[in-house]
Amino acid sequence: MSKVHIKQLSKVFGASGTNTVPALQGVDLMIEDGEFVTLVGASGCGKSTLLRILAGLEHHSSGSVICNGADIVGPSADRAMVFQHYSLYPWLNVMENIKFSRSLKANREDITSADVEAASGRADALLDLIGLNKYAKAYPNQLSGGMQQRVAIARALMGKPAMLLMDEPFGALDAQTREVMHDLILHIHRMEKTTIVFVTHDVDEAIYLGQRVILMQPRPGRIHSIYPVPLPVRRDQEMKHSTEFRALKSEILARIRESSGMTTDQELLKKLNQTSEIT
Ligand SMILES: Nc1ncnc2c1ncn2[C@@H]1O[C@H](COP(=O)(O)OP(=O)(O)O)[C@@H](O)[C@H]1O
Ligand SMILES: [Mg+2]
Repeated sequence: MSKVHIKQLSKVFGASGTNTVPALQGVDLMIEDGEFVTLVGASGCGKSTLLRILAGLEHHSSGSVICNGADIVGPSADRAMVFQHYSLYPWLNVMENIKFSRSLKANREDITSADVEAASGRADALLDLIGLNKYAKAYPNQLSGGMQQRVAIARALMGKPAMLLMDEPFGALDAQTREVMHDLILHIHRMEKTTIVFVTHDVDEAIYLGQRVILMQPRPGRIHSIYPVPLPVRRDQEMKHSTEFRALKSEILARIRESSGMTTDQELLKKLNQTSEIT
């Protein structure tokens, strides 16, 4: 279960004085239990900061962030994070990586053999879910980037978190691998019913994955608009060519360009040509 309520959230980096950065200002957002939301926007608009606050890795300056009725004051096993760079332990094999946080816990707590068995069952199921059951004994350096990221996702899911926080998790993968990962994460979302907050700067990715796309804008970082995605819950790659998809994509891209003060390539080319005529 996780229902998140963010109210008038702001975050200022730096000590008070001239060097302060208003990373987030006046952010209001509700995230429903089991929802898949994507955060998109120009670089520097506070996407990572918002996600880190949700993870409890960063404190906010004012406002409130409430998860299931309680303030988020620090990290919790209930909110797992997946980063762009698969932070797997190179000296552990795939299965050991997936079970890692679990074994730390086993050392600390009085855990019964039934618990250990249940955990093994879960790890096997997750390995199936990410399609890597043949690679349980492989080491990270024997796997492709996409496979490593799948292991990182399985590891994050191991403790059955209510919320999965993902910061550009597929940003380092090639386009084809990314498509495979998109369908995999949607499948995982259906199976595990985890609430997912997914940060990306890729508008296609944001629309394809999200039930709602939260568009942010920079200086100071804030929410520009929230778009419900007009596609069936069950996505397939063909939908990327639909009129609804393309219309939403152009709308979001136009808003990003506006808010980041950037012009289109064509406008830029025209300007450059004019300049060269003058000189
Ligand atoms: N630890 C930090 N110290 C100072 N400024 C930071 C820190 N982290 C982020 N910022 C600033 O906050 C703003 C938002 O950053 P970030 O959340 O990383 O944006 P995004 O993920 O959307 O690119 C940027 O201006 C960035 O430079
Ligand atoms: Mg970021």
